[in-house]
Amino acid sequence: MASPTTQVYPIVWHNDRVLLIDQTRLPNEYAVVEIKCCEDMARAIKTMIVRGAPAIGVAAAYGMYLGARETQTTDRDIFLNQLLEVAQLLRQTRPTAVNLFWAISRMLKTAHETLGSVEQLKASLLETAQAIQLEDLQTCQMIGDRGLEVLPANPAKLCLLTYCNTGALATAGYGTALGVVRSAWRTGRLARVYASETRPRLQGAKLTAWECVQDRIPVTLITDNMAAHCMKQGLIDAVVVGADRIAANGDTANKIGTYSLALVAKAHNVPFFVAAPLSTIDFELPNGSEIPIEERHPSEIYQIGETVICPPGIEFYNPAFDVTPAELITAIITEKGAMQPQELQQLQFKVSA
Ligand code: MRU
Repeated sequence: MASPTTQVYPIVWHNDRVLLIDQTRLPNEYAVVEIKCCEDMARAIKTMIVRGAPAIGVAAAYGMYLGARETQTTDRDIFLNQLLEVAQLLRQTRPTAVNLFWAISRMLKTAHETLGSVEQLKASLLETAQAIQLEDLQTCQMIGDRGLEVLPANPAKLCLLTYCNTGALATAGYGTALGVVRSAWRTGRLARVYASETRPRLQGAKLTAWECVQDRIPVTLITDNMAAHCMKQGLIDAVVVGADRIAANGDTANKIGTYSLALVAKAHNVPFFVAAPLSTIDFELPNGSEIPIEERHPSEIYQIGETVICPPGIEFYNPAFDVTPAELITAIITEKGAMQPQELQQLQFKVSA
């Protein structure tokens, strides 16, 4: 996996192991980490070597296969029980992105539905992990193109504001919200993307800006507290963000700060779009109040790099995600097209039909 020119794949299955681009080191260093067992995959997800909801789903699917491969038994029932333990290990890595749980469930379903020997079960688990990865890549390309249908018609070339990283790195490739940006660029509809830096982990500055540079997409980096000012100045035509979990009513959990951005967009009459695959919709949750919100270590906010930026003796609160209420969302862009948040319920019946 050489340093990329334009096409970035954060997860590659190669020589019986998984290769991950280490996203904690970008943009200063392009490093690849080899994952040979499910414990390593769980650690990579937890420490954010791989991150972004769809990418976490793909990584977890391969983690399930690696865990399955490690089992020695030839007894189907013992194998299925051991696979449940692998699933449990992976489920405990990160709580908010539903794609993780969706991919694990799909892998368990494959194992239960495959007839034959344990070796045959293992082979179909690998096939399913690869299918999840390929489908996500195709899905992202569809999301990007369907997004073009709802972007404002004027001006002819748009300035889009995006948040966190929702690009190739956060998915199997291409991206969700950044996929819409990519499709807009490819079709001549993009003037520029504004990348909000995304405190505290700086995915906007470190990852989105890096991806735009790879693709030669014009990008302007702003700090998170500049969004309102930019909108007031008329610099932003629309906001496009990703999602980690969307409840059945359209309430959307995404990177902390997304909610503020949606409020600011509403105040300035700027359309606010969420771009995500159907695998990010959690139809079991009627609204966003029950979406589990990950809290991360305070060091993410009390220091920048190695430098501590605040006095001792204070408390910290570091939620990694927030929930944007559906009424602030102009449309949710999926691979099936863009829809109003309240239209998601109808989609549930189409998806399960
Ligand atoms: O904590 P992270 O970096 O995994 O959070 C990622 C985000 O919040 C993304 O915006 C979201 O997963 C959408 S990814 C296409």
